[in-house]
Amino acid sequence: MAASARAFVLRQTQLRPVPGVEAIRLHLAHEILPLWRAAQTETRDEDAALPYWAFAWIGGLAIARHLEAHPEVVAGKTVFDLASGSGLCAVAAMRAGATHATAADIDPFAIAAIALNARANGTRVSVVGRDVLDEDPPEADVVLAGDCWYEAGLAERATTWLRRVRAAGIEVLLGDPGRRYLPIESLVELASYDVRTTTVLEDLEHKQGHVFELRDD
Ligand SMILES: C[S@@+](CC[C@H](N)C(=O)[O-])C[C@H]1O[C@@H](n2cnc3c(N)ncnc32)[C@H](O)[C@@H]1O
Repeated sequence: MAASARAFVLRQTQLRPVPGVEAIRLHLAHEILPLWRAAQTETRDEDAALPYWAFAWIGGLAIARHLEAHPEVVAGKTVFDLASGSGLCAVAAMRAGATHATAADIDPFAIAAIALNARANGTRVSVVGRDVLDEDPPEADVVLAGDCWYEAGLAERATTWLRRVRAAGIEVLLGDPGRRYLPIESLVELASYDVRTTTVLEDLEHKQGHVFELRDD
């Protein structure tokens, strides 16, 4: 799967600057449904995941902007990017001076995209292609989580795991537009950015992306 996933990502995307974070280039798509159908055909699986990895989501864009403006958040630190998708947050962390970044996602196409995107930006990111949400906290100084609160099941599991991560003394930064399942009562807002997204994913072309710190319990 790894080689064919890589070829699929290259075939189905274009390498383009990320709106608002133009120093970073990602393999991105313009449309989600034709790409999803192509992924279903490629995997021969009608239940193939939606190709979230082919887009920079509002949460990830907000984190990337934040790390560009405040590199000290990750500089000299080890970083873990949960639900990495394209790898945007991990790449942004490396560009901001992180010593090491690990990106985790469960979609094999995301795993291929993260490796390609890291390379396209002249950096290295380690990739974890399994679900870590029932595991112990990672070896990291900072955990980033961009746009994980769009769906109840993932939101609940990500929140529970991130609370464990925080309890282990690791800094946790969330990026999100304020979706329904965000645990807002446990968050402190650090910054807010006007980010350019796409109406392929969202109701408006421009949205506000917030960066939050997970509070200690
Ligand atoms: C909306 S995308 C966000 C991607 C990226 N963080 C960003 O902001 O651009 C959500 C990502 O979560 C991944 N995902 C879903 N469940 C997951 C899990 N249990 N563990 C890791 N990643 C998961 C999906 O495959 C998808 O790539």
